Amino acid sequence: MNSSLNLDSRVQQGRVHRSVYVDPAIFEAEMELIFERGWVFVGHESEVPAAGDFKAVQIGRQPALLTRHTDGALHVVLNRCMHRGALLTREQSGNTRAFRCLYHGWTFSTNGDLLVVPFAEGYGEGFDQGSLGLIHAARVDSHRGFVFASLSAAVPELRTALGPAAGIIDTIMDAAPEGAIKANGGVQKYTYNANWKLQAENWVDGYHPTFTHQSAFAIVGKKTGAKPGSNQGSAARAVGLPNGHALLDYTGTSRAALNSEKDAAGYRAALEARLGADRAGKVLESDLQILLFPNLFIQSNAQHFRVLRPIAVDKTEVYAFPYRLCGAPDEINDRMTTKLGWWASAAGFGQPDDLEAFERCQEGLKVSQAEWLLFSRGLQREQTMGDGRVVGDITDEVTHRGIYLEWARRMARAND
Ligand code: FES
Ligand SMILES: [Fe+2]
Repeated sequence: MNSSLNLDSRVQQGRVHRSVYVDPAIFEAEMELIFERGWVFVGHESEVPAAGDFKAVQIGRQPALLTRHTDGALHVVLNRCMHRGALLTREQSGNTRAFRCLYHGWTFSTNGDLLVVPFAEGYGEGFDQGSLGLIHAARVDSHRGFVFASLSAAVPELRTALGPAAGIIDTIMDAAPEGAIKANGGVQKYTYNANWKLQAENWVDGYHPTFTHQSAFAIVGKKTGAKPGSNQGSAARAVGLPNGHALLDYTGTSRAALNSEKDAAGYRAALEARLGADRAGKVLESDLQILLFPNLFIQSNAQHFRVLRPIAVDKTEVYAFPYRLCGAPDEINDRMTTKLGWWASAAGFGQPDDLEAFERCQEGLKVSQAEWLLFSRGLQREQTMGDGRVVGDITDEVTHRGIYLEWARRMARAND
């Protein structure tokens, strides 16, 4: 690794150096140290429900495939023919009995095994077809259907890496009367010309909405009479979770109460039947949006998850997947997933505002005389809990401090 990066000094108490957003060498180091040597989200089990289903995914810079084999097992294999390197498929998703390489016809099973080498006798006697299967991710594991993979075996167990974030995922998933979701509603994609971390930060930024989304809120106000405030000083909380995960928790606010769809006939009763009245009540009251560092975001309120795909230091793709709560009335699933369209889609009322902010940041950060971005808001009033959570006002930058603590910890390996 390039030890001249001297990354230690780029993240300091309450501030982050601009180079972390604009230096291509730091971007390359991030792809290796954060995305290719740690757990990253690759897909939801419900995206590949049947034997032979596959989905193209990106692990850092590397193309990979999430597949479901004939025995039902999930595999994450690198999308690279073991003959001379061609992508095995350009499809984003599909169903296949096997992957036959377009170039010379080598054919691989959905579990990665090399099934066919055309005219194999040409390789002579010592040819070991059995050793030329696709390369598997070193670790694959899932939590409530969310599948994560690591190209490095040297990672903690997924449950340990998730820590208290696992319980947040549980609460979001428990809103489904059957305890599971289906992410089979297609995907919305958008690209912006700025660093990937600007989107990661923004997902857990409770400071900006009043300003960035002023016009969108004005439209909502005209239609509904609602006057969304900043939530500053409300019950809403920004929470830094261990290992770089971060949460905006709007539970107990007027925003959470606005989800009157939750009163749809039979829904509460169905949840109570599975979870009991207490737990069902807690799940129904909750309004959570969580970043699973580094590349997954789940939002309960607008019933979708999003995945970051960094392209370059100043270019990022985001894929957004609406999901349905299994067992919930159509009325709920239809209204909740519609929210993704009107707010968070590329042509929605909210998302384009954020993208404009990201691109303005990337442009503004070209100013080299001002070296630091400030993340010190609420530093003096944050509270550290016994389980490692750090809690602040919804407008505080406590979430971002957690992200950059983990960023610095991972990137410190560049100096090894
Ligand atoms: S590169 Fe795939 S068969 Fe030759
Ligand atoms: Fe926003």
